[in-house]
Amino acid sequence: MKKISPVSRSGRFARDPGADVAQFTESISFDRRLWRHDILGSLVHAEMLHKIGVLARAERNAIVHGLKAIAREIEAGKFRWKPELEDVHMNLEAELTRRVPAGAKLHTARSRNDQVALDLRLWLRDEIVLLLADIVHLQRALVSLGEKNADVLIPGYTHLQRAQPVYFAHHLLAYVEMLERDCERFWDGYSRVNVCPLGSGAIAGSTLPLDRVFVARLLGFVNASGQPQLTQNSMDAVSDRDFAVEFCATAALLAVHLSRLAEDLILWTSAEFNFVKIADAYTTGSSLMPQKKNPDIAELARGKTGRVIGNLVALLTLLKGLPMTYNRDLQEDKERLFDTADTVRATTQLMAAMLRNTKVNHAACAAAAGDPALLATDLADYLVKKGMPFRQAHHVVGAVVALAEETGKPLNRLSFADLQSVDKAFGRDALGVFNLQRAMAKRNLTGAPGTKEVAKQLARWRAQLS
Ligand code: ARG
Repeated sequence: MKKISPVSRSGRFARDPGADVAQFTESISFDRRLWRHDILGSLVHAEMLHKIGVLARAERNAIVHGLKAIAREIEAGKFRWKPELEDVHMNLEAELTRRVPAGAKLHTARSRNDQVALDLRLWLRDEIVLLLADIVHLQRALVSLGEKNADVLIPGYTHLQRAQPVYFAHHLLAYVEMLERDCERFWDGYSRVNVCPLGSGAIAGSTLPLDRVFVARLLGFVNASGQPQLTQNSMDAVSDRDFAVEFCATAALLAVHLSRLAEDLILWTSAEFNFVKIADAYTTGSSLMPQKKNPDIAELARGKTGRVIGNLVALLTLLKGLPMTYNRDLQEDKERLFDTADTVRATTQLMAAMLRNTKVNHAACAAAAGDPALLATDLADYLVKKGMPFRQAHHVVGAVVALAEETGKPLNRLSFADLQSVDKAFGRDALGVFNLQRAMAKRNLTGAPGTKEVAKQLARWRAQLS
C-alpha cells in the first residue's frame, strides 16, 4: 500500500517522519472535532476564490460538492481519519483533492496558520452561545428553587458562623448575580472572538486580491451594527490566542462560582445542616457504609474547577515565551480550550439538573433561622433608634448576649428585668425585635434580604430570564 505523506511535506522532504514523530506531532486525535468549522471556512474560501477569479465556476462547484459529501460521511461516522495526515485541515484537504482535482487550488492564499485561527474562532463562537444558554438554564433553576421556597428563611453565614437571617431565595439569587456577570464577560469576550483572521496567510497575507470583507460577511464576522470585523495585522492574526485565554479565564471564574455553589449544597446536605435533600439520581452511595448518600455530583463540580483553572494557567504559560508569529507550540492550545469548554458546559448543565431535583427541608431551615441570636444586631438597631450611639449599643447587646449565655436562656426569653439590668434604655417593647417575620419585613433596602425586596428580585429575575 502506498504511504500517504502530509501535503505540507510533499516538495522539500526526502523522507516521511518516523512513527514516533508522527505520533508526537499529530493533532487529528483531538482537532477533528473542528471539522464542521474547517469545512465551513473552506466553503467560504472557495466562494471567495471564485469571486476573484482564481476558481472557475465548475471548480468551485466541484469543491463545494466534494466538501459537502465529505461532511455527510463524517456525520455518518464513515470518514476515515488518517493520523499520518497530522491534523483536521490536512485530512480534509487531502481527501477533497483525492476526489476533486480542483481541491488542489483550495489552499490558494491560505495557510494552516490562518485556517486554524479561523476554525478555533468559529468553534468558540458557537461554544459561547451554547454555554450562555446553559448558564441561563442554571439561573432559571436557581430562581425556580427560590420561588418554590419563597417563605423559607435560613441563617446567613459569615466565617461559616451564623450571622443574620436571610431568605433561602436571597442566598440562591446571589449565585444568579454571579452567573449574570459571567454571561456579561463571555459576551464581552465574544466580540474579540468574532473577528475574521482569514487572509492573513502564513504570516504576511497574500499577493492575490483576496476579498476579506466578503469572507467575513459570509462567515458572520460582523458586529452588532453589521460591520465586518477583520483582524488588522497578519502577524497578530496568526499568533493571537488571546481570545482563547480570555474564554478560559472567564470560564475559570465561572467554574469558581459553580464550585462555591457546589460547596454550599454539600454543606446543606450534611446532617449538621440538613437544609436540602438532593434527589437520589444526583447522589451516590458508599461501597462500604450502607447508610451513606454522598453529594458526588456537587463534589465533582467543585473538583473539576481545578482543571479549568489549570487550563488557563497552561494556556498563559504556552504563550508567554513565544516569539512572533505562529509556532507549533500553539497546537497545544486546543486540548486546554476544548477541555475547559466541555467541563464548564457539563458542570453548568449538571448543576441545573441537580437543583431542579433538590428539595428544601422547611422544618430544619425554620429551626436554624429561628435562632434568636441571629437578630442581635436588630436589638442594637433598636437602641440606636432610641438615640444610643451604635458602638455603645453594640457593647450593650454584647452584654445581653453574655447574660443569656450565663443564664442559659435564649435571647428572646430574657425578661424585661433582665434587659433593664444591662441597660435602662431597653423598653418593654425591646423583645419585639425577635419577631422574625417583622424583622424580615424591615429589611427593605435595595439588595437586602427583606420580604418585599426578595419578592421583587425574584420577579425581576423571572422576567429577565424568560
Ligand atoms: N495542527 C496545527 C495546529 O493545531 C495546525 C497549524 C499547523 N501549522 C503549521 N505551520 N505547522 O496548530
